[in-house]
Amino acid sequence: MPALGVNIDHVATIRQARRTIEPDPVWAAALAELGGADGITIHLREDRRHIIDRDVRALKESVQVKLNLEMAAEEEIIGIALETKPGQCTLVPEKREEITTEGGLDVVGQKDRLGDAIRRLQQAGIEVSLFVDPVADQINASHELGADAIELHTGAYAEAKTPEAVDREFESLVAAAQTTCDAGLVLHMGHGLTYRNVSRVAAIPGICEFNIGHSIVARAVLVGLERAVREMKSLVQ
Ligand code: PXP
Repeated sequence: MPALGVNIDHVATIRQARRTIEPDPVWAAALAELGGADGITIHLREDRRHIIDRDVRALKESVQVKLNLEMAAEEEIIGIALETKPGQCTLVPEKREEITTEGGLDVVGQKDRLGDAIRRLQQAGIEVSLFVDPVADQINASHELGADAIELHTGAYAEAKTPEAVDREFESLVAAAQTTCDAGLVLHMGHGLTYRNVSRVAAIPGICEFNIGHSIVARAVLVGLERAVREMKSLVQ
């Protein structure tokens, strides 16, 4: 059954809105674990708009399940990852002006840079996942570089506006999932998934992990984090 990684960035977003000390992502991670989270996911962005360096260190100490650090393959952030050694790093593209991660990595076009980051992180005992669009060339390039896993970007599926477009994007995910499994890579899925759209994706065979954030934290504001995580976990499984 697929694991659920709960992305708690937006707990830190609320804290940073006032540059205060609450709510603490460490507390959120504990509640997510009580709700059944199999992993805690955080994105240390270069502009530190939500998760800050202290959170990475504190969560590494407190989290009992897998800690997954999403990050750009930039020198400063790679240094922090090598120092704190989360269980997994998910490499993502990052643009300063974007509201959230906008697309998958161009693995084909950045083989040297990404290959070097993958090697250094793996040598420190960290598993490396690459966040890519559901495109065979990007998946095969990830395999060539020795990534442990890939996370298929589900954003286009989540944002599709018509039933036909949803079906088209869903079929791309099905095909890309098959390519990923055929290449022997561990299959993750994430971005834009909600309580309404996740079940269809969860039925695709071979998925090992989902990473879901915004929708869970949005529901948590109303029903509490433990319950929000429990409800999402039952849907992904
Ligand atoms: N996976 C990756 C690689 C991401 O960058 C994000 C957003 O930080 C997520 C999953 C979670 O996306 P969402 O918040 O839309 O569930």
